Amino acid sequence: MAVRQRNFRMRLEGAVALQGDPAPHLDLLLSQLTRSLRVAVVYGGNKRGEGAVLREAQNPRSWKSYETVARNIAGSLTNLGFTDVAVLPDDMRLAESLRANRINFAWVNSGGVQGRSAISHTPALLEMLGIPYIGHDPLTAGLLDSKHHFKRQLQSLNIATAPFFVWHPNEPRSNAVSDRRFKSLFAKWSNGFVVKPVTGRASLHVHFVERAKDIAATVRHVHDVTQNSVMVEAYLPGREYCIAVCGPVVAQQQKMQLMPGPFVFSAIERKLGKNERIFTSMDLKPITTARTRALLADTDGDVVGRLEEMARSVYIGTPLQTLVRLDVRADHKGELFVLEANPKPDLAAPSAKSTSLICAGLSRYGMSYDDLILSVFADKAATLFDGRPHSVENFFGSFHYSDAEMSS
Ligand SMILES: Nc1ncnc2c1ncn2[C@@H]1O[C@H](COP(=O)(O)OP(=O)(O)O)[C@@H](O)[C@H]1O
Ligand SMILES: [Mg+2]
Repeated sequence: MAVRQRNFRMRLEGAVALQGDPAPHLDLLLSQLTRSLRVAVVYGGNKRGEGAVLREAQNPRSWKSYETVARNIAGSLTNLGFTDVAVLPDDMRLAESLRANRINFAWVNSGGVQGRSAISHTPALLEMLGIPYIGHDPLTAGLLDSKHHFKRQLQSLNIATAPFFVWHPNEPRSNAVSDRRFKSLFAKWSNGFVVKPVTGRASLHVHFVERAKDIAATVRHVHDVTQNSVMVEAYLPGREYCIAVCGPVVAQQQKMQLMPGPFVFSAIERKLGKNERIFTSMDLKPITTARTRALLADTDGDVVGRLEEMARSVYIGTPLQTLVRLDVRADHKGELFVLEANPKPDLAAPSAKSTSLICAGLSRYGMSYDDLILSVFADKAATLFDGRPHSVENFFGSFHYSDAEMSS
């Protein structure tokens, strides 16, 4: 363990030195990091558990606990030398659990417990409590998890995304397809439609609809399940891709690097089966190497370059604060369109049986799973460290629980 801790310290030191900013807090940061940081990896609490919520409410976003992945992340942090790592659910007792465990740093691996914009609830709570965390801020998390709002953002950044129409539940639904705006939006698109929740995950409740006249019934169905607005999008009949993008501080082959800009990696093609229009949910079929194909610069150079450019533009333009995975689909001519940016991409540790869309492409970058976890952590540390002494103090220095706080 001691050797691992020293390695970690050296790796982070290397990264921060490359930032070219030997801030006075560096020594404090490095010496206290693995010893004094009490980390909680937070997963989605179950609203049905006793004492989890005051009153059960609707889940417009299909709920999942993500506890297994939270434990994978916690295991990796332990491998990297962190001595104090807890795994906690984000139900209404989270603030008290954080205090009881004297947590001073969190890793958010949750889509929330229930309610609207659930993915932003945990970051909002952590903001209010004053605990630094890995994850997007509440507004960005909510934006990314609301496909319609995010697509408007893409349009304003001139990043290609398929035309879409949002069907709000309080609109007279039967009129939407004959609406003039609907017709003009899809006039040049003749391959059918996709109807999907504005806030969804893992292809759940995503439907291909061939003819406009059948849209209304599918929209009604998706609305009944999600109790939320529903998106109608032009169907893109081409290939499907994913690419990951995160901040510039990256661990590769056990060494910290500072990239000149956001780090884009793990470009893969999601292999669609015959007649598989919608990539089958990972809830139904695990992600395996048979379902993905790593894209290679030699043979797929053109598409890799375009995906990388797209991912960089999203990261810088939004702007993002930590790792996302872009889902991208091609039209019949091979033009690429962003479907979504996943604010909390699956970070399951690869096993003999399955992997995640991000980890499927990691080895080509000389990165192990621990390198990925370290990269996400170190990039956040470098951001907090970079010119924000107040956060640094909170993060690594004077932020500890007094006895008075603990006994109150
Ligand atoms: N406009 C579209 N054209 C073609 N396929 C789509 C379209 N939108 C979604 N899909 C399919 O549905 C899957 C899930 O859609 P996505 O927008 O990524 O939502 P989520 O992953 O949150 O369920 C995609 O991976 C893709 O296979
Ligand atoms: Mg997706």
